[in-house]
Amino acid sequence: MRKKITIIGAGNVGATAAHWAAAKNLGNIVLLDVVEGIPQGKALDLSQSGPVEGFHYKVQGSNDYNDSANSDVVILCAGLARKPGMSRDDLLAINVAIVKSCAEEAVKHSPDCILIVVTNPIDAMVHTAFKVTGHPKEKVIGMAGVLDSARYRTFLADALGVAPKDVNALVLGIHGDNMMPMVRLANVAGVPITDLLSKEEIDAIVHRTQTGGLEIVNHLKTGSAFYTPGLAAVEMAEAVLTDSKRVLPCAAYLEGEFGVSGYFLGVPVVLGEKGVEKILEFELTDEEKEALQLSVQAVEKQMQATGL
Ligand code: 2OP
Repeated sequence: MRKKITIIGAGNVGATAAHWAAAKNLGNIVLLDVVEGIPQGKALDLSQSGPVEGFHYKVQGSNDYNDSANSDVVILCAGLARKPGMSRDDLLAINVAIVKSCAEEAVKHSPDCILIVVTNPIDAMVHTAFKVTGHPKEKVIGMAGVLDSARYRTFLADALGVAPKDVNALVLGIHGDNMMPMVRLANVAGVPITDLLSKEEIDAIVHRTQTGGLEIVNHLKTGSAFYTPGLAAVEMAEAVLTDSKRVLPCAAYLEGEFGVSGYFLGVPVVLGEKGVEKILEFELTDEEKEALQLSVQAVEKQMQATGL
């Protein structure tokens, strides 16, 4: 039985996610948007890459949620992206209404789907989707840690002159200024980065990771990143669709893990066909616990602003 992925939002992130999902031959793809013509045109264009790239699944553009029915995975990217001078929090008032509507429709048409939320501010938007749909917590996941960890790994690889895939690094917490690139756990093929880089170099890379999204917004001026956000969501979808048990940093609903209850935050999770199959909890240092509390306070503030 062919797998089915619906991507809601055919803007830069959604269209790029469709591109990566097609290139990885993950399954039939429905690209959904409210704007007439955009999903249809982008899907038709992408489908014509099949003979060249060698993928054989269908890519359909639509404005109708009925076409998304019975999707195995739904990636929710719909919403506004920030522009220079805006924080992710500035998007909340507009995007919360969009996410509510899209999440309700997605789960109504695909009641067994794994819902991956990308729309910012992600930790509040994934919580919004969870609350309004009543979907099981393990089936509602936020994409952010894979993106932030990819940036962290890239900057470390650049500094060390090594292959990015050999850099193992984890970002915990909120997808925002208080995100936590974990220095203590970062390594290159097992060699701690603290043995390879000075404190000053590491601090600069941590800061650049925390502001990595804004750095791209300031270059682009008209929007935010989309290549790696789109791929990050697809990497999560691939883990679900192939039941691969990948361990990836994702925004998951915490009920006591890491001392946090009742919020979505970025933590290492085991991803498989059931969604979040396990949260890999580990002991934090006192300093890391304090840093995580900053994430909790920030996401609490976001959730208050949603009014949910
Ligand atoms: C980023 O960090 C768009 O939040 C996303 O680039």
